[in-house]
Amino acid sequence: MDENVATPISDVSAEPSIASLEGMNDARPQASRVGSTASYDSTGRHRRRNPRARRPVKETLDARSEYYTSQDDGTAEHRINQYVIKQEIGRGSFGAVHLAADQFGNEYAVKEFSKSRLRKRAQSHLLRRPRGPIRPGTDFNSPLHRHPSGDDNETAKNPLYLIKEEIAIMKKLNHNNLVSLIEVLDDPTEDSLYMVMEMCKKGVVMKVGLEEKADPYDDEQCRCWFRDLILGIEYLHSQGIVHRDIKPDNCLVTNDDMLKVVDFGVSEMFEKDSNMFTGKSAGSPAFLPPELCVVKHGDVSGRATDIWSMGVTLYCLRYGRLPFEKHSIFELYDSIRGDSLVYEEESDEVFKDLMGRILEKDPEKRIDMFGLRVSQSQLHYLPILTRYNRNILG
Ligand SMILES: Nc1ncnc2c1ncn2[C@@H]1O[C@H](COP(=O)(O)OP(=O)(O)O)[C@@H](O)[C@H]1O
Ligand SMILES: [Mg+2]
Repeated sequence: MDENVATPISDVSAEPSIASLEGMNDARPQASRVGSTASYDSTGRHRRRNPRARRPVKETLDARSEYYTSQDDGTAEHRINQYVIKQEIGRGSFGAVHLAADQFGNEYAVKEFSKSRLRKRAQSHLLRRPRGPIRPGTDFNSPLHRHPSGDDNETAKNPLYLIKEEIAIMKKLNHNNLVSLIEVLDDPTEDSLYMVMEMCKKGVVMKVGLEEKADPYDDEQCRCWFRDLILGIEYLHSQGIVHRDIKPDNCLVTNDDMLKVVDFGVSEMFEKDSNMFTGKSAGSPAFLPPELCVVKHGDVSGRATDIWSMGVTLYCLRYGRLPFEKHSIFELYDSIRGDSLVYEEESDEVFKDLMGRILEKDPEKRIDMFGLRVSQSQLHYLPILTRYNRNILG
Protein backbone atom coordinates (compact mmCIF):
# COMPACT_ATOMS: atom_id res chain seq x y z
CA MET A 1 0.00 0.00 0.00
CA ASP A 2 1.15 3.50 -0.66
CA GLU A 3 2.65 4.98 2.48
CA ASN A 4 0.38 7.97 2.36
CA VAL A 5 -2.83 6.12 1.75
CA ALA A 6 -5.21 7.45 4.31
CA THR A 7 -8.61 6.14 5.11
CA PRO A 8 -11.30 8.28 6.67
CA ILE A 9 -11.46 7.17 10.27
CA SER A 10 -15.14 6.40 9.92
CA ASP A 11 -14.38 3.68 7.37
CA VAL A 12 -11.91 1.54 9.18
CA SER A 13 -13.04 -0.12 12.32
CA ALA A 14 -15.54 -2.85 12.93
CA GLU A 15 -18.54 -2.15 15.15
CA PRO A 16 -18.57 -0.43 17.54
CA SER A 17 -16.61 1.90 15.35
CA ILE A 18 -14.94 5.19 15.97
CA ALA A 19 -17.51 6.57 13.57
CA SER A 20 -20.38 5.38 15.72
CA LEU A 21 -18.76 6.89 18.77
CA GLU A 22 -18.00 10.16 17.13
CA GLY A 23 -21.67 10.37 16.69
CA MET A 24 -22.60 10.97 13.73
CA ASN A 25 -20.36 12.53 11.23
CA ASP A 26 -20.08 16.11 12.31
CA ALA A 27 -16.73 16.08 13.05
CA ARG A 28 5.78 23.52 23.62
CA PRO A 29 7.89 24.82 23.01
CA GLN A 30 9.16 25.33 26.53
CA ALA A 31 6.23 27.58 27.00
CA SER A 32 7.15 30.79 25.34
CA ARG A 33 5.52 33.17 27.75
CA VAL A 34 3.07 35.32 25.92
CA GLY A 35 3.62 38.99 26.61
CA SER A 36 0.95 40.55 28.71
CA THR A 37 0.78 43.42 26.25
CA ALA A 38 -0.12 41.29 23.25
CA SER A 39 -2.22 43.32 20.88
CA TYR A 40 -5.85 42.47 20.68
CA ASP A 41 -7.51 43.47 17.49
CA SER A 42 -11.07 42.60 18.18
CA THR A 43 -12.38 43.20 14.68
CA GLY A 44 -9.75 41.07 12.99
CA ARG A 45 -10.24 38.29 15.50
CA HIS A 46 -13.96 38.27 14.88
CA ARG A 47 -13.50 37.94 11.17
CA ARG A 48 -11.39 34.87 11.77
CA ARG A 49 -13.92 33.41 14.12
CA ASN A 50 -15.99 31.73 11.42
CA PRO A 51 -14.34 28.38 11.05
CA ARG A 52 -13.89 27.04 7.55
CA ALA A 53 -15.54 23.80 6.53
CA ARG A 54 -13.81 21.04 8.40
CA ARG A 55 -11.46 18.81 6.41
CA PRO A 56 -12.01 15.15 7.26
CA VAL A 57 -9.51 13.74 9.70
CA LYS A 58 -7.20 11.26 7.93
CA GLU A 59 -6.45 7.91 9.47
CA THR A 60 -3.25 6.33 8.25
CA LEU A 61 -2.70 2.80 9.47
CA ASP A 62 0.41 2.00 7.45
CA ALA A 63 2.57 4.98 8.31
CA ARG A 64 6.35 4.68 8.11
CA SER A 65 8.50 6.20 10.77
CA GLU A 66 12.10 6.64 9.58
CA TYR A 67 15.30 7.93 11.14
CA TYR A 68 17.98 9.25 8.77
CA THR A 69 20.79 11.77 8.44
CA SER A 70 19.83 15.11 6.95
CA GLN A 71 21.59 15.86 3.65
CA ASP A 72 21.57 19.56 4.55
CA ASP A 73 23.54 19.58 7.77
CA GLY A 74 24.25 15.95 8.67
CA THR A 75 22.00 15.97 11.72
CA ALA A 76 19.75 13.04 12.59
CA GLU A 77 16.16 13.46 11.48
CA HIS A 78 12.97 11.63 12.26
CA ARG A 79 10.26 11.49 9.64
CA ILE A 80 6.77 9.99 9.77
CA ASN A 81 5.38 9.86 6.25
CA GLN A 82 5.36 13.45 4.99
CA TYR A 83 6.08 14.97 8.42
CA VAL A 84 9.61 15.87 9.51
CA ILE A 85 9.66 15.72 13.29
CA LYS A 86 11.48 18.60 14.96
CA GLN A 87 12.01 19.72 18.55
CA GLU A 88 9.93 18.65 21.53
CA ILE A 89 7.37 21.28 22.47
CA GLY A 90 5.46 19.55 25.24
CA ARG A 91 5.04 16.40 27.29
CA GLY A 92 1.86 14.38 27.33
CA SER A 93 0.90 11.57 29.70
CA PHE A 94 1.62 9.00 26.98
CA GLY A 95 4.56 10.53 25.13
CA ALA A 96 6.09 13.73 23.82
CA VAL A 97 4.57 16.42 21.62
CA HIS A 98 6.83 17.67 18.81
CA LEU A 99 6.85 20.46 16.30
CA ALA A 100 6.67 18.99 12.79
CA ALA A 101 6.66 20.30 9.22
CA ASP A 102 5.26 18.76 6.06
CA GLN A 103 6.81 18.87 2.58
CA PHE A 104 5.33 22.34 2.00
CA GLY A 105 6.77 23.76 5.20
CA ASN A 106 3.41 23.86 7.01
CA GLU A 107 3.87 23.40 10.74
CA TYR A 108 1.97 21.03 12.99
CA ALA A 109 2.07 19.70 16.55
CA VAL A 110 2.51 15.91 16.64
CA LYS A 111 1.41 14.17 19.82
CA GLU A 112 2.87 10.73 20.38
CA PHE A 113 1.22 7.92 22.34
CA SER A 114 2.98 4.74 23.44
CA LYS A 115 0.75 1.82 22.43
CA SER A 116 2.18 -0.43 25.15
CA ARG A 117 1.48 2.18 27.83
CA LEU A 118 -2.03 2.73 26.52
CA ARG A 119 -2.65 -1.04 26.55
CA LYS A 120 -1.37 -1.46 30.10
CA ARG A 121 -3.51 1.40 31.28
CA ALA A 122 -6.54 0.06 29.49
CA GLN A 123 -6.08 -3.43 30.92
CA SER A 124 -5.67 -2.29 34.50
CA HIS A 125 -9.19 -0.77 34.56
CA LEU A 126 -8.10 0.86 37.76
CA LEU A 127 -8.81 4.37 38.62
CA ARG A 128 -5.53 5.85 39.61
CA ARG A 129 -6.14 7.43 42.98
CA PRO A 130 -3.48 9.72 44.29
CA ARG A 131 -2.42 8.96 47.88
CA GLY A 132 -0.41 10.80 50.45
CA PRO A 133 1.81 13.80 49.89
CA ILE A 134 2.43 14.89 46.38
CA ARG A 135 5.70 16.14 44.92
CA PRO A 136 5.68 19.79 43.89
CA GLY A 137 5.13 20.45 40.23
CA THR A 138 3.70 17.07 39.38
CA ASP A 139 0.43 15.46 40.19
CA PHE A 140 -1.86 18.29 41.17
CA ASN A 141 -1.80 19.38 37.58
CA SER A 142 -2.07 15.93 36.07
CA PRO A 143 -5.29 14.17 35.19
CA LEU A 144 -6.41 11.49 37.62
CA HIS A 145 -6.93 8.98 34.89
CA ARG A 146 -7.28 8.43 31.21
CA HIS A 147 -9.72 6.05 29.67
CA PRO A 148 -8.20 4.43 26.61
CA SER A 149 -10.04 1.41 25.26
CA GLY A 150 -8.38 -1.95 25.57
CA ASP A 151 -10.52 -4.30 23.51
CA ASP A 152 -7.78 -6.64 22.29
CA ASN A 153 -9.57 -7.69 19.10
CA GLU A 154 -10.29 -4.17 18.06
CA THR A 155 -6.89 -2.78 18.95
CA ALA A 156 -5.18 -5.63 17.10
CA LYS A 157 -7.12 -4.70 13.96
CA ASN A 158 -6.68 -1.00 14.46
CA PRO A 159 -4.38 0.31 17.22
CA LEU A 160 -5.97 3.73 16.85
CA TYR A 161 -8.84 2.14 18.76
CA LEU A 162 -6.70 2.71 21.87
CA ILE A 163 -7.38 6.44 21.60
CA LYS A 164 -10.74 6.21 19.91
CA GLU A 165 -12.56 8.51 22.35
CA GLU A 166 -10.07 11.34 21.92
CA ILE A 167 -10.14 10.94 18.13
CA ALA A 168 -13.92 10.71 17.94
CA ILE A 169 -14.32 13.86 20.01
CA MET A 170 -11.75 15.84 18.04
CA LYS A 171 -13.36 14.75 14.77
CA LYS A 172 -16.57 16.44 15.80
CA LEU A 173 -14.99 19.79 16.54
CA ASN A 174 -14.83 22.78 14.26
CA HIS A 175 -14.20 25.93 16.25
CA ASN A 176 -11.45 28.51 16.25
CA ASN A 177 -10.95 28.26 20.00
CA LEU A 178 -10.46 24.50 19.99
CA VAL A 179 -7.34 22.85 18.55
CA SER A 180 -8.20 20.79 15.47
CA LEU A 181 -7.01 17.34 14.58
CA ILE A 182 -5.65 16.79 11.08
CA GLU A 183 -4.42 13.21 10.88
CA VAL A 184 -3.83 10.18 13.08
CA LEU A 185 -1.11 7.70 12.12
CA ASP A 186 0.03 4.27 13.20
CA ASP A 187 3.28 2.63 12.18
CA PRO A 188 2.56 -1.09 12.76
CA THR A 189 6.28 -1.79 13.23
CA GLU A 190 6.80 0.51 16.20
CA ASP A 191 5.25 1.35 19.58
CA SER A 192 3.92 4.83 18.81
CA LEU A 193 0.66 6.30 17.56
CA TYR A 194 0.72 9.87 16.33
CA MET A 195 -1.86 12.62 16.36
CA VAL A 196 -1.16 15.52 13.99
CA MET A 197 -2.79 18.74 15.17
CA GLU A 198 -2.82 22.36 14.19
CA MET A 199 0.16 24.13 15.75
CA CYS A 200 -0.24 26.74 18.50
CA LYS A 201 3.12 28.42 18.12
CA LYS A 202 3.21 30.39 21.40
CA GLY A 203 2.56 27.30 23.51
CA VAL A 204 0.76 27.15 26.83
CA VAL A 205 -0.88 30.36 27.99
CA MET A 206 0.78 30.06 31.42
CA LYS A 207 2.92 27.54 33.27
CA VAL A 208 1.48 27.42 36.74
CA GLY A 209 1.22 24.61 39.26
CA LEU A 210 1.88 23.52 42.79
CA GLU A 211 4.62 25.83 44.04
CA GLU A 212 5.01 27.09 40.51
CA LYS A 213 4.18 30.77 40.14
CA ALA A 214 3.96 32.74 36.92
CA ASP A 215 3.74 36.38 35.90
CA PRO A 216 0.08 37.38 35.95
CA TYR A 217 -1.60 38.90 32.91
CA ASP A 218 -3.08 42.35 32.94
CA ASP A 219 -6.79 42.96 33.15
CA GLU A 220 -7.42 43.38 29.43
CA GLN A 221 -5.44 40.29 28.46
CA CYS A 222 -7.29 38.19 31.04
CA ARG A 223 -10.53 39.39 29.56
CA CYS A 224 -9.41 38.36 26.06
CA TRP A 225 -8.21 34.90 27.10
CA PHE A 226 -11.34 34.31 29.12
CA ARG A 227 -13.57 35.29 26.25
CA ASP A 228 -11.78 32.83 23.94
CA LEU A 229 -12.13 30.15 26.61
CA ILE A 230 -15.86 30.81 26.98
CA LEU A 231 -16.42 30.66 23.23
CA GLY A 232 -14.52 27.38 22.86
CA ILE A 233 -16.15 25.63 25.81
CA GLU A 234 -19.61 26.93 24.98
CA TYR A 235 -19.27 25.35 21.52
CA LEU A 236 -17.91 22.14 23.06
CA HIS A 237 -20.90 21.88 25.40
CA SER A 238 -23.28 22.56 22.53
CA GLN A 239 -21.81 19.48 20.83
CA GLY A 240 -22.62 17.37 23.90
CA ILE A 241 -19.00 17.20 25.10
CA VAL A 242 -17.55 18.11 28.48
CA HIS A 243 -13.81 18.78 28.54
CA ARG A 244 -13.11 17.85 32.18
CA ASP A 245 -9.47 18.97 32.22
CA ILE A 246 -9.55 22.72 31.66
CA LYS A 247 -6.39 24.38 33.05
CA PRO A 248 -3.73 26.76 31.73
CA ASP A 249 -1.62 23.78 30.61
CA ASN A 250 -4.38 22.86 28.17
CA CYS A 251 -4.90 26.40 26.88
CA LEU A 252 -2.56 27.19 24.01
CA VAL A 253 -1.84 30.42 22.18
CA THR A 254 -1.45 30.80 18.43
CA ASN A 255 0.92 33.13 16.61
CA ASP A 256 -1.87 35.66 16.31
CA ASP A 257 -2.72 35.52 20.00
CA MET A 258 -5.82 33.42 19.93
CA LEU A 259 -6.40 31.02 22.79
CA LYS A 260 -7.27 27.45 21.83
CA VAL A 261 -8.22 24.62 24.14
CA VAL A 262 -6.44 21.30 23.62
CA ASP A 263 -6.32 17.83 25.21
CA PHE A 264 -9.55 15.91 24.97
CA GLY A 265 -8.00 12.83 26.60
CA VAL A 266 -10.47 12.71 29.51
CA SER A 267 -13.35 14.47 27.80
CA GLU A 268 -16.70 12.80 27.70
CA MET A 269 -19.26 12.78 24.94
CA PHE A 270 -23.00 12.67 25.53
CA GLU A 271 -26.11 12.78 23.40
CA LYS A 272 -26.58 16.31 22.16
CA ASP A 273 -28.88 18.28 24.50
CA SER A 274 -28.34 15.79 27.32
CA ASN A 275 -27.89 17.24 30.78
CA MET A 276 -24.32 15.83 30.72
CA PHE A 277 -24.32 14.47 34.26
CA THR A 278 -21.57 11.98 35.00
CA GLY A 279 -20.29 10.00 37.95
CA LYS A 280 -16.81 9.64 36.46
CA SER A 281 -13.99 11.44 38.15
CA ALA A 282 -11.32 12.92 35.91
CA GLY A 283 -9.31 16.08 35.55
CA SER A 284 -6.46 17.59 37.52
CA PRO A 285 -6.99 17.80 41.30
CA ALA A 286 -6.20 21.51 41.72
CA PHE A 287 -8.85 22.31 39.12
CA LEU A 288 -11.59 20.00 40.42
CA PRO A 289 -14.84 21.49 41.73
CA PRO A 290 -15.91 20.88 45.36
CA GLU A 291 -18.59 18.40 44.31
CA LEU A 292 -15.88 16.07 42.96
CA CYS A 293 -13.67 16.47 46.04
CA VAL A 294 -15.63 13.92 48.06
CA VAL A 295 -15.09 10.20 48.30
CA LYS A 296 -18.35 8.87 46.96
CA HIS A 297 -19.82 11.59 44.87
CA GLY A 298 -22.80 10.72 42.72
CA ASP A 299 -23.43 12.06 39.26
CA VAL A 300 -22.40 15.66 38.86
CA SER A 301 -23.02 18.20 36.13
CA GLY A 302 -20.23 18.11 33.57
CA ARG A 303 -21.08 21.64 32.50
CA ALA A 304 -20.76 23.02 36.05
CA THR A 305 -17.47 21.11 36.45
CA ASP A 306 -16.02 22.77 33.34
CA ILE A 307 -17.20 26.20 34.48
CA TRP A 308 -15.46 25.77 37.85
CA SER A 309 -12.19 24.81 36.10
CA MET A 310 -12.56 27.82 33.82
CA GLY A 311 -12.80 29.95 36.97
CA VAL A 312 -9.65 28.39 38.47
CA THR A 313 -7.93 29.05 35.13
CA LEU A 314 -9.04 32.70 35.12
CA TYR A 315 -7.75 33.07 38.69
CA CYS A 316 -4.36 31.66 37.60
CA LEU A 317 -4.16 34.05 34.65
CA ARG A 318 -4.98 37.01 36.87
CA TYR A 319 -2.71 36.18 39.84
CA GLY A 320 -0.15 33.74 38.41
CA ARG A 321 -0.91 31.12 41.04
CA LEU A 322 -3.46 28.46 41.96
CA PRO A 323 -6.36 29.54 44.19
CA PHE A 324 -6.27 26.33 46.23
CA GLU A 325 -2.80 24.97 46.91
CA LYS A 326 -2.00 22.28 49.49
CA HIS A 327 0.59 19.57 49.90
CA SER A 328 -1.58 16.53 50.22
CA ILE A 329 -4.54 15.59 48.17
CA PHE A 330 -6.79 15.42 51.27
CA GLU A 331 -5.84 18.92 52.39
CA LEU A 332 -6.34 20.15 48.86
CA TYR A 333 -9.81 18.67 48.62
CA ASP A 334 -10.70 20.12 52.05
CA SER A 335 -9.49 23.49 50.93
CA ILE A 336 -11.45 23.42 47.67
CA ARG A 337 -14.57 22.39 49.55
CA GLY A 338 -14.29 24.76 52.49
CA ASP A 339 -11.87 27.67 51.99
CA SER A 340 -12.90 31.09 50.77
CA LEU A 341 -11.00 32.60 47.90
CA VAL A 342 -8.05 34.79 48.77
CA TYR A 343 -7.53 37.77 46.49
CA GLU A 344 -4.17 39.50 46.46
CA GLU A 345 -4.73 43.19 47.05
CA GLU A 346 -7.65 43.07 44.66
CA SER A 347 -9.33 46.43 44.34
CA ASP A 348 -11.62 45.39 41.50
CA GLU A 349 -14.87 44.49 43.22
CA VAL A 350 -16.40 43.59 39.90
CA PHE A 351 -13.76 40.96 39.22
CA LYS A 352 -14.25 39.57 42.73
CA ASP A 353 -17.97 39.37 42.14
CA LEU A 354 -17.50 37.46 38.90
CA MET A 355 -14.98 35.06 40.43
CA GLY A 356 -17.35 34.44 43.32
CA ARG A 357 -20.11 33.47 40.90
CA ILE A 358 -17.89 31.12 38.93
CA LEU A 359 -16.12 29.57 41.94
CA GLU A 360 -19.42 29.11 43.75
CA LYS A 361 -19.11 25.93 45.82
CA ASP A 362 -22.69 24.84 45.14
CA PRO A 363 -22.89 23.65 41.52
CA GLU A 364 -26.60 24.44 41.45
CA LYS A 365 -25.93 28.08 42.24
CA ARG A 366 -22.79 28.39 40.09
CA ILE A 367 -23.08 30.73 37.11
CA ASP A 368 -23.77 28.79 33.91
CA MET A 369 -22.60 29.41 30.37
CA PHE A 370 -25.81 31.18 29.56
CA GLY A 371 -25.25 33.41 32.58
CA LEU A 372 -21.70 34.18 31.48
CA ARG A 373 -22.86 34.98 27.98
CA VAL A 374 -26.05 36.91 28.41
CA SER A 375 -25.50 38.60 31.71
CA GLN A 376 -25.02 41.91 29.92
CA SER A 377 -28.76 42.21 29.97
CA GLN A 378 -28.76 41.99 33.73
CA LEU A 379 -28.06 45.31 35.30
CA HIS A 380 -26.39 43.77 38.27
CA TYR A 381 -23.64 42.26 36.11
CA LEU A 382 -23.26 45.20 33.81
CA PRO A 383 -19.88 46.37 35.03
CA ILE A 384 -18.52 42.83 34.81
CA LEU A 385 -19.80 42.48 31.34
CA THR A 386 -18.31 45.62 30.06
CA ARG A 387 -14.98 44.38 31.36
CA TYR A 388 -15.16 40.64 30.87
CA ASN A 389 -17.99 39.77 28.56
CA ARG A 390 -18.03 42.67 26.16
CA ASN A 391 -18.26 41.51 22.57
CA ILE A 392 -18.73 37.96 23.65
CA LEU A 393 -21.44 37.55 21.07
CA GLY A 394 -19.16 38.85 18.34
N1 LIG B 1 -1.41 21.83 19.11
C1 LIG B 1 -0.41 22.12 19.93
N2 LIG B 1 0.40 23.19 19.70
C2 LIG B 1 1.43 23.49 20.55
N3 LIG B 1 1.72 22.78 21.66
C3 LIG B 1 0.95 21.69 21.96
C4 LIG B 1 -0.14 21.31 21.11
N4 LIG B 1 -0.73 20.22 21.64
C5 LIG B 1 -0.06 19.93 22.76
N5 LIG B 1 0.95 20.80 22.97
C6 LIG B 1 1.90 20.79 24.09
O1 LIG B 1 2.01 19.47 24.62
C7 LIG B 1 1.50 19.40 25.96
C8 LIG B 1 0.81 18.07 26.18
O2 LIG B 1 -0.26 17.92 25.23
P1 LIG B 1 -1.68 17.41 25.74
O3 LIG B 1 -2.56 17.20 24.55
O4 LIG B 1 -2.20 18.36 26.78
O5 LIG B 1 -1.26 16.01 26.35
P2 LIG B 1 -1.78 15.29 27.68
O6 LIG B 1 -3.11 14.80 27.29
O7 LIG B 1 -0.93 14.13 27.94
O8 LIG B 1 -1.76 16.33 28.78
C9 LIG B 1 0.60 20.63 26.09
O9 LIG B 1 0.45 21.05 27.45
C10 LIG B 1 1.35 21.65 25.26
O10 LIG B 1 2.48 22.16 25.97
MG1 LIG C 1 -2.69 18.22 28.77
